[in-house]
Amino acid sequence: MKISPSMLACDFSQMGNEIKKISSLGADYIHMDIMDGNFVPNISFGSDVVKSLRGLTTVPFDVHLMIDSPHKYIKQFAEAGANIITFHLESNCNILETIKLIKSYNIKAGLSIKPNTPAEKIIPYLNDIDLALIMTVEPGFGGQKFMRNQLEKSKTIRENSKNILIEIDGGVNGETIKEIKKYPVDICVAGTYVFKAPDIKEAINSIKL
Ligand code: DX5
Ligand code: ZN
Repeated sequence: MKISPSMLACDFSQMGNEIKKISSLGADYIHMDIMDGNFVPNISFGSDVVKSLRGLTTVPFDVHLMIDSPHKYIKQFAEAGANIITFHLESNCNILETIKLIKSYNIKAGLSIKPNTPAEKIIPYLNDIDLALIMTVEPGFGGQKFMRNQLEKSKTIRENSKNILIEIDGGVNGETIKEIKKYPVDICVAGTYVFKAPDIKEAINSIKL
């Protein structure tokens, strides 16, 4: 299992130190939650913040756009140093055009589905994307309860694509990981569990092992 700690849960006044810390403690990716206050009822941070952190680590940046009109912002996140850009199937854009745009920057393209969106909706795009992100909470906030009924979606996606990376996001911790490991999941996002842990290294290892 790979882990992608979410910067949403870090100490924002110490972002540089936080990113260096998780990089040295075994983060496989670094998850950046981008929220616009429209697609989700919360605002986080933008591409200038991502760019300012890029020089501090070589760990790939896994950017999760929870925004309307994601196609308008691909260029700036690509130039900020994203290695994967994931946007939402439910957002108002031309999905195939947006995937193509991401790939034109030589970046991996991901597509995400909210809890109320059935897995079947993502199937037509599996040949075009590199990663499928299954939300296991309603997007917008960290620290919510894990929705275990979302895990079946990983099986449906895997049955339709052997190679795609399957990532889950929301409510991952030392308990919920036991259930998650029974499913074809490649990457777990974890925010609160990692950054609020008494021992971050131990928290990261408990997801990875
Ligand atoms: C939710 C975000 C998640 C969030 C996860 O909208 O997409 O990435 O940071 O936070 P935890 O791990 O605290 O549930
Ligand atoms: Zn996320």
